[in-house]
Amino acid sequence: MKIRDMIDFNDLPLAEWDRLFFMAMDIMKNSEKYIDACKGKILATLFLEPSTRTMFSFQSAMLRLGGKVIGFSEPGNSSISKGEDLQDTIKTLSCYTDLLVIRHPLEGAAKAASMFADVPVINAGDGGHLHPTQTLTDLTTIAVEKGRLDNLTIGMCGDLKNGRTVHSLIKAMAKFPDNRFILISPPNLMVPDYLTKMLKRKGITYVETNDLEGNIGKLDIFYMTRIQRERFASVREYEQSKGVYILDPEKMRLAREDMLVLHPLPRVDEITHEVDNDPRAKYFKQAQFGLYIRMALILRMLSGPFDAEEDREFASTKLSCSNPKCITNHEHYLPQRFKGIKTDPSLLYCIYCEKQYPKSEGE
Ligand code: NCD
Repeated sequence: MKIRDMIDFNDLPLAEWDRLFFMAMDIMKNSEKYIDACKGKILATLFLEPSTRTMFSFQSAMLRLGGKVIGFSEPGNSSISKGEDLQDTIKTLSCYTDLLVIRHPLEGAAKAASMFADVPVINAGDGGHLHPTQTLTDLTTIAVEKGRLDNLTIGMCGDLKNGRTVHSLIKAMAKFPDNRFILISPPNLMVPDYLTKMLKRKGITYVETNDLEGNIGKLDIFYMTRIQRERFASVREYEQSKGVYILDPEKMRLAREDMLVLHPLPRVDEITHEVDNDPRAKYFKQAQFGLYIRMALILRMLSGPFDAEEDREFASTKLSCSNPKCITNHEHYLPQRFKGIKTDPSLLYCIYCEKQYPKSEGE
């Protein structure tokens, strides 16, 4: 099966990742070769949530490839503020662009957009769900700085419940052999169930803990994240969780000499500025790698569809997704769709937000 869109990094076989990575490395070394590679092409950035790195790196990537960019970063400037639904916005933008990058506050929105677009769609973050191009950035950083993507102990820390970059990266790193996870968060911000179930199904070692000091010394990669204020139901709930983990030089002394510190950014207070000068801090390099790998992704997507990892059958079911943050509960014309999990036939999952249900519930 072929796919045209980048909604979830895990739709791609690893051979496609290898191709993207080597292309990004070539772009980095021989950028002059690529200055006209996208001449005559237009990329649209449809950002309904704030962004610095993702939006500007996509725009910069397209401009550096000789293409042009249109878009908005503020829904107030578009017909969405007049009540236009996602379907119509996407159908319209498809007439004006060759490639569409979307960031949206609801889970599954990029998937929904891809169902109505005539051009390839890239998910630049769908609510607290996934952020596959940040994962491309993270993998590039680890591959360059560590020289491998397997046999690593990866610590993830902060808001593991709402952090979409965390979800995408866990899914991706679980595809490479012998990786282990130490998931460090307060009890109310642990990773969603569907991810720990996936790790269990694959027999991957993981620990869930709230202890940073006791675990930082075991890590090859330390992936820090901010507490995602905008995803909390109330300010009070956010206030209770903010500032729980702060990486500072004292904690860095407990870490290995060759541990890498990654962060998708923006940071709030979870890494002190003193850590920036530590050679193990790679987060600004990471932001820079994001440019090259997005250049590779744009080029690749404009050249035709990817081979898809697997094609799971749609399940016919009476289920309706109950996740209030799922796009289907806001854009009501969207068809409810669920897929089966090959390795666990007792489960179905929503194709938009991945919330899982026992198969028996839909019968
Ligand atoms: C992240 C995002 O938007 O999910 N940032 C990014 O894209 N580099 C992380 C965050 O907002 O905390």
